[in-house]
Amino acid sequence: MDVTVSSKSELYDQLATQLSSLLAGERDLIANAANFSSLIFHSLPDLNWTGFYFEKDGELVLGPFQGQPACVRIKIGQGVCGAGAAKCETVIVPNVHEFPGHIACDSASNSEIVVPLMKDSRLIGVLDLDSPSFERFDAQDASGLESLVRILLSTRCDS
Ligand code: SME
Repeated sequence: MDVTVSSKSELYDQLATQLSSLLAGERDLIANAANFSSLIFHSLPDLNWTGFYFEKDGELVLGPFQGQPACVRIKIGQGVCGAGAAKCETVIVPNVHEFPGHIACDSASNSEIVVPLMKDSRLIGVLDLDSPSFERFDAQDASGLESLVRILLSTRCDS
């Protein structure tokens, strides 16, 4: 990826400002997650999928996203999304082909990052980003995306 460290952090700062105004005054979680995924997909370089899975009855169910159609249900602990959900931690996968149990929704994906959505210490879902490049995501992406997720979850969403 051609973005320098300083411009990447500036990009996340800009995105935080844009996201805050985009979500201001709206409490519907699905509407806000839909605008969130569109903003990220069209603003961050080198992505082929951006979206949400929400926890329902012990599994992850597809939510708003941008990109190719994706698998609808993922068990907690399964694939990269399920691993992030099980650990309640951000997971960065530099090469998805080396990740045991990776679920290939789009054959173009080569690296992936999953950020858990935690509300009142409870997992409510995950944010998932895929890239056609290997090693697309680093610690700066993790902290930038975690900040954006905090903005989403601070909008007092009705779920
Ligand atoms: N690759 C994910 C599945 C979801 S898609 O990437 C949209 C996984 O292994 O959990």
